[in-house]
Amino acid sequence: MFEIIRRDGMARIGKFTTNSGKTMETPALFPVINPKINTVPARELYDKFGFKSLITNSYIIKNTKELNEKAREVGLHEMLDFPGIIMTDSGTFQSHMYGEVELTNEEIIEFQKAIGTDIGTVLDIFTEPYWTKEQTAKSIEVTLERTQKACEMKGDMMINGVAQGSIYTDLREDCARRMATMDIDVHPVGGIVPLMEQYRYSELVDVIMSSKKGLNPNRPVHAFGAGHPMVLALLALMGCDFFDSASYAKFARDDRMMFVDGTFRLQDMETLDCNCPACRGHTLEQLRKMDKKSKTKLIAEHNLYQITQELALVRRYIKEGRLWELAEIRCRAHPALLDALRRLREYQDLTENYDPISREGAIFYTGPETRNRPVFKRYLDRLGTRYIPPTDKAVLFEDSKGKPYSRPYAEEFAKARRAGYTPIVVSAFGPVPAELDEMYPLAQSLFPENMDMETETESERITFQFLSMMGFKEAIEPSQIPDDGTEEFDADLLRAKAVSRYQFGIEATEALFRGKIELVTSKKTGKIRNVISDGEHVLSMRAGDGMYTLRMEGAKRIVEACPAPFMRVSVMDDSIPFVSEGRNVFAQFVLDCDPDLRPMEEVIVTDRNDNPIATGRAFLIPFEIRQRKKGMAVKVRSGSSDE
Ligand code: GUN
Ligand code: ZN
Repeated sequence: MFEIIRRDGMARIGKFTTNSGKTMETPALFPVINPKINTVPARELYDKFGFKSLITNSYIIKNTKELNEKAREVGLHEMLDFPGIIMTDSGTFQSHMYGEVELTNEEIIEFQKAIGTDIGTVLDIFTEPYWTKEQTAKSIEVTLERTQKACEMKGDMMINGVAQGSIYTDLREDCARRMATMDIDVHPVGGIVPLMEQYRYSELVDVIMSSKKGLNPNRPVHAFGAGHPMVLALLALMGCDFFDSASYAKFARDDRMMFVDGTFRLQDMETLDCNCPACRGHTLEQLRKMDKKSKTKLIAEHNLYQITQELALVRRYIKEGRLWELAEIRCRAHPALLDALRRLREYQDLTENYDPISREGAIFYTGPETRNRPVFKRYLDRLGTRYIPPTDKAVLFEDSKGKPYSRPYAEEFAKARRAGYTPIVVSAFGPVPAELDEMYPLAQSLFPENMDMETETESERITFQFLSMMGFKEAIEPSQIPDDGTEEFDADLLRAKAVSRYQFGIEATEALFRGKIELVTSKKTGKIRNVISDGEHVLSMRAGDGMYTLRMEGAKRIVEACPAPFMRVSVMDDSIPFVSEGRNVFAQFVLDCDPDLRPMEEVIVTDRNDNPIATGRAFLIPFEIRQRKKGMAVKVRSGSSDE
């Protein structure tokens, strides 16, 4: 079982539970144990490094007489002396490395069950990146048949059904989609090791993203054979939950040390600038002179510490909602990784589905690639389709005086409005009309003062496109604003409506801002707090992100004005008493939902007849809700019985 606890980008903090009830937090690494070599003993992985899981090879155990007998007799956990979660691989990788293996899928599934593996793997066919499409397509059929068979045989063992497809994105997506319908427990994406070995990271992005389109979003995704600290943030950002690493030990055997910025040979290093528990107290000279066995062990331990350290950081950044930043920083370690980061831009439509509508903390700009984040695309999309300019003349301001813009530019904005002009700031987001400047992500973002040429040119281009698309007839500089304007305006009301249109759309805003409007503002900050329309409190504005919380009265109006499923999550009769008391909506009780919902977006919970019963914020996205049997879909704020 896999439960999504937190999310950021396409990444998630998950809680994975095996059939026997062992649990672990994800993203997580399964270090590889070669039962014949034992570079770092399994017990040490558990006790000293805190690994709750490992992966070993059932094919090697099966083919080694003593191991085979021992494993059958006492079970895998006792044989390895590892109390955590054990995953076994099937021999597929051996066939990738050394050619054919003499083994059937049924035999290896049966064997994995017999030795008490927690998660067993199908004997999938490793699709090599140089294969033709025909060969790849054919082998996928075999892998799918074997996966089906494994599901029938699995019993209490969980099953890894490996999605393959070489570098063919359509085959990847199709294979993933078909895997999603089978009774498998974990979705490894296989056949990616050669891509990583050859630094073909942008193809790796294609492979992972096209697989993610098809895989069941409610199962953990395993980047099979990936465990270098350099790629973990990027892979986690794309929604990979499990990793495994044989490299920590393999690299150690040939004196190679892993770091977040690459792999370095002991012989080439100038200093040993590492303070991990393995390296601490050692100098480079000492390490070089060690006997082979101690040196290998020390480097293997160092490599493991680097991986665990980076994974801990990845989990922290997910929890802080900042994983994009970490991935952008890490992808500067190698030009091939930078290519991968730039490749992600092609998937903005997909990543946008997963991106929360708001988050705590500010967006930090790390470079021009930051503009590829889905938050930028969403802002421009919504601005283009939901913004209504109050006038048809614009004044363009520079983004150089701090945020929110209406503070440093208070006088200029007022002067512009008196003269019938709409103030617009040209920012790294593109054009920001003054009405939106306090809203996430505009005020909650930090850009360098010395902006790079690329972003500057691009934001000007987008601004001019916007001006013409919106029908502005004129755009002037602040110095050209006439002094003698006499137009009347209500800046708060302009803002209140503009934010509502951005968040809920034009139609819903008409319904929310009906009749007489009163705005309650904070005495301390002057910011809008509540919107009262015809005497009904319909919206409250949050100070932190400048966005609205929808009140029941507002929800009722939207339901009347906008046909379902707009903003709705409808639930089964059974859960209505709970939801109307303010309890959260769980996915298994959802009948239907708006396909355009985004995480953290305001939603209206309705019954099967479209009566609103509560408001709340979406936690899962529609793709997840549809396939999910467990987990919180909506965090409910207030039910109809509270009011
Ligand atoms: N280990 C690394 N890649 C793979 C793969 O594609 N399939 C299996 N079974 N194991 C792997
Ligand atoms: Zn170290």
